Amino acid sequence: MTRRILQVGPLKPSLAATLTDHYDALVLPDDDSRAAFLAEHGPSIGAVVTTGRTGVPAELMAQLPALGAVVNFGVGYDTTDVETAAARGVLVSNTPDVLTDCVADTAIGLAIDTLRQLSAADRFVRRGDWPEVVTYPLARKVSGKRVGILGLGRIGQAIATRFEAFGCPISYHSRREVAGSPYTYAASPAQLAADVDILVLATSGGSGTQHLVDRKVLEALGHEGYLINIARGSVVDQDALVELLLEGGIAGAGLDVYTEEPAVPAELIDLDNVVLLPHLASGTVETRAAMEQLTLDNLDRWLADGTVLTPVPEVTPRGAARSR
Ligand code: 8YV
Repeated sequence: MTRRILQVGPLKPSLAATLTDHYDALVLPDDDSRAAFLAEHGPSIGAVVTTGRTGVPAELMAQLPALGAVVNFGVGYDTTDVETAAARGVLVSNTPDVLTDCVADTAIGLAIDTLRQLSAADRFVRRGDWPEVVTYPLARKVSGKRVGILGLGRIGQAIATRFEAFGCPISYHSRREVAGSPYTYAASPAQLAADVDILVLATSGGSGTQHLVDRKVLEALGHEGYLINIARGSVVDQDALVELLLEGGIAGAGLDVYTEEPAVPAELIDLDNVVLLPHLASGTVETRAAMEQLTLDNLDRWLADGTVLTPVPEVTPRGAARSR
């Protein structure tokens, strides 16, 4: 088995250092030397370690003829061509479960911040406006709001559990109704949006969910509805979202992800009903350490016996498609 390890894209510094120091990993250059590097080293690469931000697209995979595994740091792997990987017998692993709590916590934080305008009120205080204005404009209550979860996978479920503690009735839409779920199933994203006050996106990214939340869905959410996105920017028609936010077609949005990260639509910068986070949902010391460990455990398992601990469903024969 060809076993050389290749780092593709930036990684958590401690993980990158471990790969270089203990696995003798190579790092794919991002400049003009890339083609020559791949011509020289491509045939010896057995495993790639990458993240959902970079991944292994089809063009890169084609230059790695001996590739056996793509070990992904992160639960989302939409930047890796899993169809080609499956066809070639390349395993792909991700880091599910260990980040569920932090991503769900972020969804709740974003929802509270967006409806209660906490970040905007913080800016108000820092600007020195309080002595002048005396009362910050009234915001919107969170407890009891109807919450819709798009994608009731592990993360969607964890978000739902948290909102239940706020007395929020929960409904959801997934590709399939979840057997035994206590929550109300909506037949489509538009139906879900029409039924709720807060629509939370917790689905996976990739071509299957591209613009699942289009203008029609956002219009169904309506001028009193809020969108929270901790999934992927690709799930939402971002142009339509910006237009509706500017014209009051929806009440507000809390966003951790965008279409072309790190680009954030300039029109949103001055809107106090929009909270903008820099894709940090899993970004805590504890969770990133757990993701790092699981990434290394997957790599070690592949090196030991050619399998991985947490394969993604597309490349597991008996795996069912699942949400994030
Ligand atoms: C990470 C994520 O920030 O797991 C995912 O899919 O989006 C995040 O947890 C990212 O993948 C790490 O770069």
